[in-house]
Amino acid sequence: MKIAFVSTECVPYAKTGGLADVAGALPKALEKMGCEVKIFLPKYSSIDESTHGLRYNWAVGEMPIRVNGVVRSVHLEQSKLPGSNVEVNFIDCPHYFHRGRIYTNDIDEDERFILFSKGVIETLQRFGWAPDVIQCNDWQTGLIPLYIKDNYNWDRLFDNTATLFTIHNIGYQGRFSKSTLLAAEISGDLYYPDGPVEFEDSVSFMKTGIAFSDLINTVSNKYSHEILTEEYGAGLHTILRARKEDVYGILNGVDYTEWHPGVDRLLPFSYSKKDLSGKTKNKKFLLEHFNMPFDENVPLIGMISRLVQQKGFDIFAGALEDLLNLNVQFLILGSGEDRYESLFRIVSQRFPQKVGAYIGFNNELSHLIEAGADMFLMPSRYEPCGLNQIYSLKYGTVPIVRKTGGLADTVKDWDEEKHHGFDHGNGFSFYDYTSYALYSSVERAVNVFKHKDIWKKIQLNGMNLDFSWEKSAQKYMELYKMAKEKRE
Ligand code: ADP
Ligand code: GLC
Repeated sequence: MKIAFVSTECVPYAKTGGLADVAGALPKALEKMGCEVKIFLPKYSSIDESTHGLRYNWAVGEMPIRVNGVVRSVHLEQSKLPGSNVEVNFIDCPHYFHRGRIYTNDIDEDERFILFSKGVIETLQRFGWAPDVIQCNDWQTGLIPLYIKDNYNWDRLFDNTATLFTIHNIGYQGRFSKSTLLAAEISGDLYYPDGPVEFEDSVSFMKTGIAFSDLINTVSNKYSHEILTEEYGAGLHTILRARKEDVYGILNGVDYTEWHPGVDRLLPFSYSKKDLSGKTKNKKFLLEHFNMPFDENVPLIGMISRLVQQKGFDIFAGALEDLLNLNVQFLILGSGEDRYESLFRIVSQRFPQKVGAYIGFNNELSHLIEAGADMFLMPSRYEPCGLNQIYSLKYGTVPIVRKTGGLADTVKDWDEEKHHGFDHGNGFSFYDYTSYALYSSVERAVNVFKHKDIWKKIQLNGMNLDFSWEKSAQKYMELYKMAKEKRE
């Protein structure tokens, strides 16, 4: 099976969130199963050519690509995904991608990803390589399914190429004014109220991806059902319901060569489920780093997140005063909206013994917090999959989550399971999106933490679970086959 995997983030090159982790891991798992996978990524200026061994592809040369009536010269740089044979293709167009940020609010944000989408297709043409499936990820790649079926439909190369549109987050839709139709060379016939491209008087890249792809999937089973509802569909539930038969959910996996306390190269102390003493040492190390007191009996709650509305920081802020009255400490790593960045700066200054905050992006620290914290809090309003709670399970860091999307699919509440006669709970969860519900579940966790034997049982229940990519990659293989059959 030949797969083109198109993404705007990929570890270790460019990352703002979980999409990068997925793009850096799923292709490797697919390759192990015998697929030929080529990743496509924009060549952002932040990607250092010598660090990552990028090479200019002379055979492809300079490709003239037209966006918004202007022809840009685009070329291809290539490398191999570390630890694999997966080819990574970087679409280089300095005008659009040398901006210091992966995503911008610039006026031509639409043009940046129009160029990327065309660049991917035109590179495939120059390779003369017809993928069985092009897997498109999130709105930035939403025009590709349309382009394959319409604008580039003249090229017989793609006659049997299917498209799979993977929704990692329906909250970000790529909506632009009607003038984008011209910039992207989308046929005006496709733009009419409630049509496949139009959404609330705008051009929606996400909707276009949903409308024209052969199959659609999201990154957990629960989220694949949630997005069909008005509450979670962010306005696109109607079109998703119309394509209900084609919507699947596949839970993301974890790259345990990166995220496992036994092999994690970024940890000062490794540990395993047989010997958790290294975890305590990491906690001490972490707290010292933040000039906070260490006490084995005071639970340390970690949070690593984009500081945005989706992640539940409004209900967290509402619960903060009560939470600080508990005998706990917090460590927060994140960046995003000003209001939350300043909230955590202020709280950490006012309660330096109880709250530590690092505002910014720091990969090393994210590993250290996963390892050193006793609990991990993710009170998300919605969560398509969520990776940190899955990492937390492996690190013996008990997750406390809101029961939604992938959080609901991976975290089993200890008390609730016990109520049903099971002792395989691996965390704590709450359903109501309120500060009170959040507070209550943290309070429950803090109480159980006092019972060391029970706590260890909960930790081990999580550490024993296996979310490696193989299982999920197998499911993707099935989807690819189905997508291909639809195209034949
Ligand atoms: P999302 O993709 O919605 O942001 P996920 O839980 O799927 O949420 O993935 C987030 C990923 O980004 C994780 O790998 C997490 O460790 C990482 N991450 C988020 N914020 C930061 C940060 N400030 N510094 C380092 N890593 C971060
Ligand atoms: C998105 C989602 C997150 C998911 C990630 C990777 O950014 O918000 O829940 O884990 O994509 O699929």
